[in-house]
Order: sequence, then structure tokens, then C-alpha cells
Amino acid sequence: MSKNTAVSVSVIKRLPRYYRFLGELKKSGTVRISSGELSRRMGLTASQIRQDLNCFGGFGQQGYGYNVEQLYKEIGKILGVNNNIKAILIGAGNLGKAIATHMSFEQRGFNLIGIFDKNEALAGQLVRNIPIRHISGMYNFCRDNSPAVAVLCIPSENAKEIIDELIPLGIKGFWNFSHYDIAANYPGVAVENVHLSDSLMMLSYRINNI
Ligand code: NAI
Repeated sequence: MSKNTAVSVSVIKRLPRYYRFLGELKKSGTVRISSGELSRRMGLTASQIRQDLNCFGGFGQQGYGYNVEQLYKEIGKILGVNNNIKAILIGAGNLGKAIATHMSFEQRGFNLIGIFDKNEALAGQLVRNIPIRHISGMYNFCRDNSPAVAVLCIPSENAKEIIDELIPLGIKGFWNFSHYDIAANYPGVAVENVHLSDSLMMLSYRINNI
């Protein structure tokens, strides 16, 4: 993993999109694609694509373009889609249940092994065939199963306390839907803060500026 640390974040951020496009091409039976064609489909310039992929050693061949299957696999390897990282989800409300139900964790390199909520009435309900556990069982569960990632779907005011418990339990990454800003307070922990409202506001801005 460390070999990619010199690659800029903006390049890394584009990799899931390459992966998605290549996955669709693969599904449609496309065997190879030129950087020109890939750029047309993705709305990037061909030189941007070449630059991005060169950061990881190329993968393209002059006059041939890219082998879709190979590039898909290589990008998947860089992203770690086969890592099978154990994850738990905290907060099985509307959002937590929707994420647990609809997200293809396995295809992205994660294995959702536990779901927790402080509402006792939810305990035992199955989501994605996983029983919701009361939050009081989180400590023992983490000690016994060693998850490395936590998906936070709890209100921001409850997030800090849970994060402070989870980090000493070995959680190294947060997929954070609570609106609590983890990155500012926890150096050395990988955090992806997700704010769907940011995307909605971007849409508002773009509509106003058509
Ligand atoms: P909800 O009220 O349906 O679910 C929240 C769940 O978290 C409840 O079941 C509650 O019992 C549980 N919970 C609260 N504190 C807890 C704790 N300390 N330990 C374990 N479980 C705990 O709310 P909903 O709609 O699922 O939203 C959850 C949060 O996500 C809200 O704060 C909302 O603002 C935020 N949100 C964030 C979005 C984003 O794009 N980042 C999008 C939508 C919601």
C-alpha cells in the first residue's frame, strides 16, 4: 500500500470512477479501449488519463490502448477491492439500514460483520442477514472479531464518544456519515466523511449557473 503514498489525492480520487467505467465496459464485453475512447466516455482528456495511469506504471500499450480486464484488475488491486476488511456499522436507523442493505461492501473490499444501535427495541432485527446488536456489546464484539473499519450513521452529537471508544479497539478507518468532523481531531486514522448535502448544494450551484 505504501508504494502509492506519493500519488496525489486527486488521482486516487479518480480511481473509483475509472474502476466503475471499466467494470461497465467489461460487462458489455469490451476487451480493449484506447485512451481517446475512454476519455470521451469519462469526460476527461486523453492526456489526463495517460498521466493518471502512468502514476501506477502505465498499463497501456502504444497502438493498442488498454486491456479492459487487466486495467480493471490493476485498479481494483490499487484500491484494495479484494482486501476483505472487516467493518461494523453503528446506528441502524433509516440511513444505517439503507447503507447496510444497499451497499456492495464485498465488491469494494469490505466485509460487514456487525451492526450496532443504542435502541434496545432494534436488537435482534436482521439487516442484510446480520442481527442488530445493542451498542453495549460493541466492546466485546470488537475484541473478539477485530474489525478495522466503522461506518458511522449516528447523529453528530453522539459521534465523538463512540469514536473515542472505537480507536483503542483497533478501528483504523471511519466511513463517516455523521456530521461530526473526525479528520480534524484524529490524526493517523483514515477517514472518509460523506455529506450527501454537499453534492446537493453543488447541484443547486450548477443549476443557478447554467
Ligand atoms: P435515525 O434517527 O433514523 O437513526 C439514527 C440511529 O442511530 C438511531 O437508531 C439511534 O438509536 C442510533 N444511535 C444514536 N446514537 C447512537 C449511539 N451512540 N450508539 C449507537 N446507536 C446510536 O437517523 P438517520 O436518518 O438514520 O440519520 C442518522 C444521522 O445521519 C443523522 O444525524 C443525520 O443527520 C445523518 N445523515 C447524514 C447524511 C450524510 O450525507 N452524511 C445523510 C442523511 C443523514
